[in-house]
Amino acid sequence: MRLPTGRGALSSALIEALLADDLALLPAPGSASCADPLADDDLQLALWICYELHYRGFDDVHPRWEWQPQLIALRTEWEEQVLAALRRDVGDVGATGSVAERLRELVDGDDGPSMSRYVQLHADRDQFVEFAIHRSIYQLKEADPHSWAIPRLEGAVKVALLEIQFDEYGDGAADRMHSELYRQLLRGIGLDDGYAAYIDDVPGITLAISNVMSLFGMRRELIGPLLGHLAAYEMTSSEPCRRYARGLRRLGGDDATCRFYDEHVTADALHEQVVLHDLCAGYAQGDEARTEQILFGAAACLLVDRRFAEYVLDCWSAGRSSLRTETPDRLAAAG
Ligand SMILES: [Fe+2]
Ligand SMILES: [Fe+2]
Repeated sequence: MRLPTGRGALSSALIEALLADDLALLPAPGSASCADPLADDDLQLALWICYELHYRGFDDVHPRWEWQPQLIALRTEWEEQVLAALRRDVGDVGATGSVAERLRELVDGDDGPSMSRYVQLHADRDQFVEFAIHRSIYQLKEADPHSWAIPRLEGAVKVALLEIQFDEYGDGAADRMHSELYRQLLRGIGLDDGYAAYIDDVPGITLAISNVMSLFGMRRELIGPLLGHLAAYEMTSSEPCRRYARGLRRLGGDDATCRFYDEHVTADALHEQVVLHDLCAGYAQGDEARTEQILFGAAACLLVDRRFAEYVLDCWSAGRSSLRTETPDRLAAAG
């Protein structure tokens, strides 16, 4: 993977510094200030690049940049903007009742637009392709951000997380890894299955979906939000995946292409139980501060998903592409 194209002052300066291997070219501290950090193209791309240094890295960047102190300081500053926006928009998650009950209430009370219903019933082929491109940014590293929690947990709670993650990573079979099933889906609809192949095509809010998980994952102090994020993710997956599979079959998808969704219908119905009763309840142990951290992470997951769905569905209802590039070159090749 090579560095993406810059989208503004921050990301462009960061890319230049990384390419030239020159600290002096990094953006100045305190230079980021955005009205809407969650959807800001420039800020989200800069963060995404910082996080990718901890995942797969870039062929054109020296790996030592992963722990470069000045860059870590900048990243922290950028993260604070995202965290402040999340805290402001999530609001009060007040904790009464068990963590499982509160999570259930939070998820049931989410009244955002349903991307999965739209895809099931109305999306045309081009829209499905766009949707698959957006999701490819996270899905090709599916489960990796939540794995940062593994070495930070102990005992039954660690085992509960591993039960989920072992499934995500294919139950011991590389071709059943969920990220591999997603590659199969991308190939099935004629798309590039390369990691982050569409990074230049997706808007800031799409990057925010995976950046928020990475932010929670990279900071041990945010392990509660990370577990809550995983809970909301698993709890909002099984039924929507059934709808995505129906939508894809309606558009001519075969079983191999739909397998990613089919697998999640059953896997995530189970993961939901494990994440609620073993992982989150086990971690919270009835402690109110921990419960509130879990709920904040779950609410943040729902919020970013809602912002994403609103953005994409608004674009489509206005007859526009939801990608930054109206007709990406690679799409033309996909036909
Ligand atoms: Fe999965
Ligand atoms: Fe899952």
